[in-house]
Amino acid sequence: MISRDRDVTAGVVAEPEVASRTRPVLITGGAGFIGCNLAHRLLREGRRVILFDNLSRSGVEQNVRWLRDTHGDAVELCIGDVRDAEAVRRVVARAGQVFHFAAQVAVTTSLDDPAHDFTVNARGTLNVLEAIRTADYRPPLVFTSTNKVYGGLDDVSLVENAARYTPQSEAIASLGISEARRLDFHSPYGCSKGTADQYVLDYARSFGLKTAVFRMSCIYGPHQFGTEDQGWVAHFLIRAIDEQPLVLYGDGKQVRDILFVEDLVDAFVRAQKTIASIAGQAFNIGGGASRTISLLELLDLIADLHGQRPEVAFQNWRTGDQRYYVSDTAKFSAATGWRQTVSVEDGVRRLYDWLKESRTDVGRTRSTTRRRHVLVDPLSDDSTVLSTPGGAQ
Ligand SMILES: NC(=O)c1ccc[n+]([C@@H]2O[C@H](COP(=O)([O-])OP(=O)(O)OC[C@H]3O[C@@H](n4cnc5c(N)ncnc54)[C@H](O)[C@@H]3O)[C@@H](O)[C@H]2O)c1
Repeated sequence: MISRDRDVTAGVVAEPEVASRTRPVLITGGAGFIGCNLAHRLLREGRRVILFDNLSRSGVEQNVRWLRDTHGDAVELCIGDVRDAEAVRRVVARAGQVFHFAAQVAVTTSLDDPAHDFTVNARGTLNVLEAIRTADYRPPLVFTSTNKVYGGLDDVSLVENAARYTPQSEAIASLGISEARRLDFHSPYGCSKGTADQYVLDYARSFGLKTAVFRMSCIYGPHQFGTEDQGWVAHFLIRAIDEQPLVLYGDGKQVRDILFVEDLVDAFVRAQKTIASIAGQAFNIGGGASRTISLLELLDLIADLHGQRPEVAFQNWRTGDQRYYVSDTAKFSAATGWRQTVSVEDGVRRLYDWLKESRTDVGRTRSTTRRRHVLVDPLSDDSTVLSTPGGAQ
C-alpha cells in the first residue's frame, strides 16, 4: 500500500523530510515578482524549482528569462492556470514543497471583474489544496494572503500630520496590527484572498495538511513591474524614471510598512523549515513599525534619489484603501527567529538602481496589469504548456 506521507516518485520511497528536500519546489505564480525572487534564492541553494504560471502579468517573461539565464535547467517553467484543477494536480504531484502565489493581485481589477477575481484567488487556491490533499506525498504549503483581510481599520483613531497619519494608540503606533485583529474582508480582492486564507488554515485543521498563511502588506524590490493597480513603490519609481506624472488616490498621507523582497524570501525559507510547528497558523508579514512610509514621504525619498519629484495629481480615495496599516510581525519572529534587515532608504535605493538598469522599451510599453490570453509560449521550446488560460475562465 502507498503511504500518503511517502515519496514514491520513480519508485523511490523516502521519508517526508527527505521528499520535501529532494523533490522540486513548486512556486505557483513563480514568474511574478515575489515568485522569481524566491526561486532565485532556492536555485542558488541548489534546489530545483518549478514555476507554474499563466504569464498573465505583463512583463513577467523577463523574470523567467533571467532565472533561465542564471540557473539553466534547474528551473522549469510550466505554463498553466490555477483554475485548471487537473493541471494543478499534475504539477503538485511532483512537488516537495509548495508556495502558492498565483493570483489576481489588484483591488482595482477585482472591482472591474469580481467573478474572475474569485475564480483565480478562491477557486484556484482550493484547487491547490485539493491537489495536495489527494496526493500520495502531501507537500507543505505557504500561501500569500493580504492585510486587506483586516478591512479598512476605520476604528483605529488617527492623528493627521503634514505628511502622514499616526495612530493615537501608542500600542498600535509602536507595534502595528497583530493577527488578533478581527477579520473584515473589504473589496472583492479582500474577499477572495480572505476566503483562500481561511481555506488554507482549515485544510491544516480538517485534513492535517502542513499549511501556513502570510498576511502581507507592501512588498517591494527588484523584478517588480509595479503599476497604478498594484506595486505602488515600484510604480512611483518607474513614473519618476520615465519622467511621467502620477496620480495619488486620497491625500497621500496613508501609511504602509514596506518590506524588501529579500527579507520576505528569508521569511518563506524559515516558514518551510519550521512548518511542522507553525502549521495551521496565519502570520502578519511586513516591514513592521520601524519600516513605514507614507505616499508623500516616498515622493520625498524619490526626489532625493532622482533629483526631482514626479508631478502629482490627486483623486478620490479608492475602495478599501486603509489610511494606516503597519504589520505587527512579533508572532512570526517569535516562532522562527526572523527579522527584517533592509531599511526603507536602502531598499528603495536598490529598487531604483535596478529599475534604472533594467528599464527596456518592452518594459515601458507594457504598463497594464493583465493580459488575458497567452496563446504561445514566448520563452522557449522546453516549457511545458499545461493549459491555456482562456479556457478555464
Ligand atoms: N506584492 C505585494 O505587495 C503583495 C502584498 C500582499 C499579497 N501579495 C500576494 O503575493 C502573491 C505574489 O504577488 P506578486 O507581487 O509577486 O504579484 P505578480 O503579479 O508579480 O505575480 C503573480 C503571478 O501569478 C501569475 N498568475 C496570475 N493569474 C494566474 C493564474 N490564473 N494561473 C497561474 N498563474 C497566474 C501572474 O502571471 C504572475 O506571474 C500574490 O498572491 C499576491 O496577492 C503581494
